[in-house]
Amino acid sequence: MGERGLSGKVIYLDNAATSFPKPKEVWDAVLNYACSIGANPGRSGHRLSVEAARLVFNCRRALAELLGVSACDRIIFTKNATEAANVVIRGLLEGVGGGNVVATCLEHNAVARPLKYWCRREDIELRVVSCSPSGEVNPKKVLEAVDESTIAVFVNHASNVFGTVTPFEDIAAFVSVPVVVDATQTLGSYPFSVGDFSNVIVVFTGHKGLLGPQGTGGFYIPEGIELDPLIRGGTGSNSESDEQPSFLPDRFESGTLNVHGIAGLLAGIRWIKSRGIENIRKHELELACLFVEAVSSVKGVDVYASGDWSRRIGVVSLNVRGRDPGVVSHILDSEYGIATRAGLHCAPWAHRALGTYPVGTVRFSFGPFNTESDVEEAVRAVKNIGEGANGC
Ligand code: ALA
Repeated sequence: MGERGLSGKVIYLDNAATSFPKPKEVWDAVLNYACSIGANPGRSGHRLSVEAARLVFNCRRALAELLGVSACDRIIFTKNATEAANVVIRGLLEGVGGGNVVATCLEHNAVARPLKYWCRREDIELRVVSCSPSGEVNPKKVLEAVDESTIAVFVNHASNVFGTVTPFEDIAAFVSVPVVVDATQTLGSYPFSVGDFSNVIVVFTGHKGLLGPQGTGGFYIPEGIELDPLIRGGTGSNSESDEQPSFLPDRFESGTLNVHGIAGLLAGIRWIKSRGIENIRKHELELACLFVEAVSSVKGVDVYASGDWSRRIGVVSLNVRGRDPGVVSHILDSEYGIATRAGLHCAPWAHRALGTYPVGTVRFSFGPFNTESDVEEAVRAVKNIGEGANGC
């Protein structure tokens, strides 16, 4: 059984956890760096080190272009979005003592847990803004929670559970405090631009919509917002000084970078650009729409995907009444070869808001390599499981 998924055919519908497969170009780029470059960027002066530094810079520039910002040095690499969120949250809240922060109820634990920790430690009130029954956060409700004591606002750009998009622009335009946007589920598969906002910080991962390897991620910090780094150490710059460099990106990038991952991430971004983010989004949304239309009519299946499709990504949560989502996900895998994710998806606030706490849901998340035939198989499986559960 354990080997089935490794050797048998798998329909991979777990792209919100990590995208799979990746384009061949991604692994070609990793291999090329590993076999032909291999050096440490920003440390030595030889041609391989310079080439590695060029590659890292190109990836930084590609990310800056993707975010619609000009300052490449304000793109900071971390090992994932969670680390990025921790740097940002600690940097904004440590030593503040009092005040409040506003966050949506769709935040992932990557944001929710450090927020809880720092709010408790610094005696900051945490104001969590709820969503509609279909998982949509109204920006006006977020703005209503903001007052003169607000330190920062946290906005999950798209829910990893319900696929709903919160337009951070409609919040950032009306506040002067930093707005931290968790773009983990949108960058690469949903149009995104920081635009002219000077108060928007973006936290991102490399291994989902950007199609890069795991172990890649980072954040963008606009000019004028100063944060303390989470760790200090060697950067290859200002080595004579005991102090961490004050300039970016070095201030936040101590220790050797994951250049293998960054090489793959650059190839992933180039692949996405060549396909067009709008085309990728259209494809994923069409598949999600087809799936929702078909499974919504299955007796005993609750689908959490109503609302405005123009404000959604290709993520669909459902439950088969009377069956534990973990069991349903296991049946999908073991009997149908369909990979999904069940449970709370590290987003318990979102499940509480939609009444699916504590069991959670079964999540189907579509990616650029999924096809209509994948959807048909998934629909057939859900029908069989649903009808079985209802004794039909
Ligand atoms: N945050 C990832 C998910 O939603 C891992 O599955």
